Amino acid sequence: MSRKKVNKSKFKYQTLRGFKDILPEHQKFWDFVFKNIKETAGDFSYQKIDTPILESANLFERTVGKETDIVAKEMFSFEDKGGEKVTLRPELTASVARAYIEHGMLNWSQPVKLWSWGPVFRYDKPQAGRYRQFNQFNFEVIGSESADIDAQVIIMASELYKSLGVDVEVQINSIGCPECRKEYIKLLKKYLRNKKMCLTCENRMIKNPLRVLDCKEEKCKEILTEAPQIIDSLCEQCKNSFVKVLEILDDSEVAYSLNPFLVRGLDYYNRTTFEFYVAGDEQNTQGALGGGGRYDYLIEQLGGRPTPAVGFAGGIERVILKIKESGREIKSEIQGDVFIAQLGDEAKKKCAKLFKDLRKEEVKVKEAFAKKGLTDQLEIANRMKVRFALILGQKEIMDDTIIIRDMDSGIQEIVAFDNIISEIKKRLLGNTGVKIYSNGNTEKKKCLN
Ligand code: HAM
Repeated sequence: MSRKKVNKSKFKYQTLRGFKDILPEHQKFWDFVFKNIKETAGDFSYQKIDTPILESANLFERTVGKETDIVAKEMFSFEDKGGEKVTLRPELTASVARAYIEHGMLNWSQPVKLWSWGPVFRYDKPQAGRYRQFNQFNFEVIGSESADIDAQVIIMASELYKSLGVDVEVQINSIGCPECRKEYIKLLKKYLRNKKMCLTCENRMIKNPLRVLDCKEEKCKEILTEAPQIIDSLCEQCKNSFVKVLEILDDSEVAYSLNPFLVRGLDYYNRTTFEFYVAGDEQNTQGALGGGGRYDYLIEQLGGRPTPAVGFAGGIERVILKIKESGREIKSEIQGDVFIAQLGDEAKKKCAKLFKDLRKEEVKVKEAFAKKGLTDQLEIANRMKVRFALILGQKEIMDDTIIIRDMDSGIQEIVAFDNIISEIKKRLLGNTGVKIYSNGNTEKKKCLN
């Protein structure tokens, strides 16, 4: 559908910088991604959880980390009318961990596997694939320390990207446990002593040394090529765990590359960390498609019992950009069986009743009663991908008939108005007792049995 460009500068009200409307013509991509995520989550036995968009600011300060960019620079925080400092969630993991404790999920069968989907907010520098309100899909497995689960999460995410038609590569690292990390940080500090890193790195060396490894400045990257690698400082347990994750990925033929600089921008991780990138995009132009890792200390940090966990989140806008770039055709979901088109006041009245009667029979029926012309109405019917349009004009009113138009073939038939419901049901039913959609999918339908 082509739409006229409007001169935006004429309008006083526009979306805020980094915020976007998702227009009707883009909704099919969102439906497609949501459907695949939901199916994948179901296949891997995740249960859905929705948490509030607004949470106590403290929740993220404690978990994501006060010194991280997200908390230090990017949170949308404010005092509510009761004086409480609240934050528009910048991610979902802390909220899911809070919910795990708050709802006593420790008493559920472990591990608890939860998935979510929804908007998150970061005051980031807006550019292609980087917004201030964006959407994430999120998977958490809480209550297992087994390295198998780390691998399973990565395998599931790979499967998900495959189902979306996006070719990805996983970068993976282990940042060990607090003990081996302490040793590593000593080595890193020693290596960087007397080396001229950027100002941000100088600060990070004091507050959050591991984050130095993630610096995007060319001169820092160069210095870091010779830096000691954390994998060489892993304790026995962390090393075994990492080897096991890699072995399972090898067995499952998941393509990955080791990235010793992958420390992630959130403080709660330990051991496995990973990120997904578009395969072959060496420059990682739009940043990671998704990322995650193990976070065995987060639940305890929030006041729960020590509970190991691992998870992953993907950026929905970024994956949709990739699907669009690939040129893959995404069909709109079938939205209905029948569209009712009417011409004239008398027809409109009769159609309103027919609409209600068809709904009562559980036929998925659509209308655009606000439109007068037949062309307009049939265009909408076409867009809605219905199988049949019912057309009622003045002639049909006089003859007590109605036209059934097959939207695929364009063939039209005239039937008696009083028989229309049984005629439609017959056509939707086919010869099999199974309702057949125009995309070839089938569904047994109660009303049609
Ligand atoms: P994250 O890496 O901060 O991880 O975000 C996950 C994904 O969100 C990124 O890989 C990227 O695709 C997308 N994303 C991040 N910032 C933006 C932005 N400004 N605009 C558009 N997309 C963006 C987390 O949030 C962790 N909670 C993941 C996790 C779950 N770890 C364990 N469980």
